[in-house]
Amino acid sequence: MTAPRKLHIKSYGCQMNVYDAQRMVDTLAAEGFVETASADDADLVILNTCHIREKASEKVYSELGRLRQAKDDAARDGRAMTIAVAGCVAQAEGEEIVRRAPVVDVVVGPQSYHHLPQLLARARTDGVAIETEFPAEDKFGVLPQPKPEAIRARGISAFVTVQEGCDKFCTFCVVPYTRGAESSRPVGKVIDDVTRLADHGVREITLIGQNVNAYHGEGPDGRSWPLGRLLERLASIPGIMRLRYSTSHPRDVDDSLIEAHRDIPAVMPFVHLPVQSGSDRILAAMNRRHTAADYCAVVDRFRAVRQDIAFSSDFIVGFPGETGEDFCATLALVTQIGYAGAYSFKYSPRPGTPAAEMREMVSAAEMDERLARLQELIDSQQSAFNTAAIGKTVDVLFERGGRYDGQIVGRTAYLQPAHVMAPNDIIGQVIPVKIDSLERYSLLGELAAPVSRPAQSPVTIGA
Ligand code: 5AD
Ligand code: SF4
Repeated sequence: MTAPRKLHIKSYGCQMNVYDAQRMVDTLAAEGFVETASADDADLVILNTCHIREKASEKVYSELGRLRQAKDDAARDGRAMTIAVAGCVAQAEGEEIVRRAPVVDVVVGPQSYHHLPQLLARARTDGVAIETEFPAEDKFGVLPQPKPEAIRARGISAFVTVQEGCDKFCTFCVVPYTRGAESSRPVGKVIDDVTRLADHGVREITLIGQNVNAYHGEGPDGRSWPLGRLLERLASIPGIMRLRYSTSHPRDVDDSLIEAHRDIPAVMPFVHLPVQSGSDRILAAMNRRHTAADYCAVVDRFRAVRQDIAFSSDFIVGFPGETGEDFCATLALVTQIGYAGAYSFKYSPRPGTPAAEMREMVSAAEMDERLARLQELIDSQQSAFNTAAIGKTVDVLFERGGRYDGQIVGRTAYLQPAHVMAPNDIIGQVIPVKIDSLERYSLLGELAAPVSRPAQSPVTIGA
């Protein structure tokens, strides 16, 4: 019997890359690869890359510089190390990657990674293999399902891709170019994936897609189902306790989604709804196709059906032409909405996007100043949101053991980490917790209800 080959995979960027990396591991497990935590002893290293901002993109090249040394060391020990670049930088730069970093053997885009076994074979014979096409077949139709042990090792919360690509063409964004046109997986396939995950201990599912609420997959009735209807169906799968979805576009919030929040307890009252800017002038230049008032109206629709709903968002500061007044409109919008948290970024021109041609650049110093002011406001809102939990009793889904003996860590509906001292058979259960205090971003508390003990063995997580 040959020894298993070792695979080291490093993912950058969004949740979909984390999900794709797991599917690459599943694909290569079928070829006899096992994961290793270190690149140095790996036979195959995959960098699953992100192209969203320049900083993310450039990280790949510094990592490839380090890997050149590791590959040389391996060769000196008589071992061959193969290096693959996957993800959105692979899609956007293709052959250029091999020109800039000849250490790379395989370049594979996000729609073709199910071909990895063939690409590795091709790299062995031809020296290098590059595939950045959008193949006609659907990768999900061919990807192997994760093994039960892999599902259990990944924990009680899992991502499932339901939608990919984007047709919105915001002027700053590379996604429509790297991930391609918007497409949705059929309802039946999503049900199969979620059922399998639930059967092996998963209790929380986050449906992911670049524009997830544009979901319009074909249902078993032959009609196109919106995201709200999909959520309703998934909530009926035994074992599924919590459902989330990310990332949404304000324009694509339809009544089915609002009704899902109203009617389905498993749909968590926490929505990531990026707005990017609070200035209508900048929103128009970004081609967001909504105004600040439209965005607030969408938030109000959610709030009308669930008073306890909370929001997070993404913001870009320093988009070309953004004046001090535009930026103040962003601060005003943040103040008006009141976020539980948000991500904010300095604008980064991306090659091939319309905004990269815009000339009125905001100075670096101005961008730094705006980012700091925005982050300070968001941090204060986040702290207020977390502090408000103290003294309350909130439902927590327990995920794993904590840093100390006897400590178990879970998450609230709003993804706040919550720590209690308890036996570890509470993992996989939702239990009310009385929150006593806040330590940095984590809530500390104690169980406020008796633990229900299953008749059979509890869900065991981790290797
Ligand atoms: N520059 C800065 N931030 C960007 N984002 C997307 N493209 C860019 C860019 N060119 C941010 C947006 C998006 C998040 C995923 O990344 O806020 O919602
Ligand atoms: Fe990019 Fe999101 Fe705009 Fe689509 S909706 S182009 S993914 S920022």
